[in-house]
Amino acid sequence: MESIVPHISVDRRLSLGPLEAFLRLKAGLGRDLPQDHVRTLKQGLHAARRTSQKRAKRISSLKTRLGELERTRDEERRMLHYLLADAFERRGPWVTGVRIDGRVYGRATRHTSPRLREFFEAFPQASRGRVLEPGSLEGAMTLELARRAREVVGLEGRPENVERAEFLKGLFGVENATFHTTDLEEDDLSSYGTFDAVFCCGILYHLARPRRFVQRLASVSPNLYLDTQYARPEWDLTEREGLTGWVREEDPEDPQSGLSPTAFWPTLDELHRLLSESGYTRIETIALLPDNRHGPRVHLAASRQD
Ligand SMILES: C[S@@+](CC[C@H](N)C(=O)[O-])C[C@H]1O[C@@H](n2cnc3c(N)ncnc32)[C@H](O)[C@@H]1O
Repeated sequence: MESIVPHISVDRRLSLGPLEAFLRLKAGLGRDLPQDHVRTLKQGLHAARRTSQKRAKRISSLKTRLGELERTRDEERRMLHYLLADAFERRGPWVTGVRIDGRVYGRATRHTSPRLREFFEAFPQASRGRVLEPGSLEGAMTLELARRAREVVGLEGRPENVERAEFLKGLFGVENATFHTTDLEEDDLSSYGTFDAVFCCGILYHLARPRRFVQRLASVSPNLYLDTQYARPEWDLTEREGLTGWVREEDPEDPQSGLSPTAFWPTLDELHRLLSESGYTRIETIALLPDNRHGPRVHLAASRQD
């Protein structure tokens, strides 16, 4: 007996009616049906078969087109990565690692830091506000700040770092960040306006005169997030700007070092005194990291009511 399994592949959308009719025809069961009914069924079946063939053709041409698009996209992506690698290399060596489309450019290492989160938690008004970032290096943090803040101003002493920051800004199409090359030992900060908060990370312990700098920060904003290193009381301490602390030789070869030959690290108590004498009335310790490998470190939020 003839198999009732259809010889053509049935379109998945073929409704049960035509399918049943087809099976009946195949099995010879359609003979008792009125002729015109059989004809109608045959025509329906023919149309379904044609539709299915047309659809298969269309699917196959779409697959070909998709393959072409994927090949073009892979080609464009290869070209993009080639151009990015070249652009980063020409501006290097980098301190920052930047991940783009799954690949890291600049420096290969990437570290995550809670500082941005801590900053916005301490000063929610910085979201959609004006933020100052002294010591902005290659702008990586500045551009992250710019995702939430209305405007960010990055100040950096090394022109090559500002050039890298401008490059990243252009690459990512960030419009609400500006960078200036300036020496924070000298700049009194008055030309940049006032700020809702200052994001001050990794810079205070590179400066020769921390008191003058903190006072200047206090003059442009009532809110200061500070990530800095401090001296231990048992170290070989001395006095500078009326503060007790430790003098550190700066390494001019280090691209992250200060611009003066020495930096001055107040002790933690002296740092607190410096902040309150600069007008901050509320000082919150967010993280105390006495065993940090580069030296004891603290994250603070200092603020005053204006
Ligand atoms: C240790 S990095 C900190 C970078 C970034 N803020 C962070 O915490 O990841 C110090 C940055 O401050 C800059 N810097 C040091 N002394 C400076 C000065 N006197 N004026 C302006 N920038 C200075 C350095 O060039 C460097 O980019």
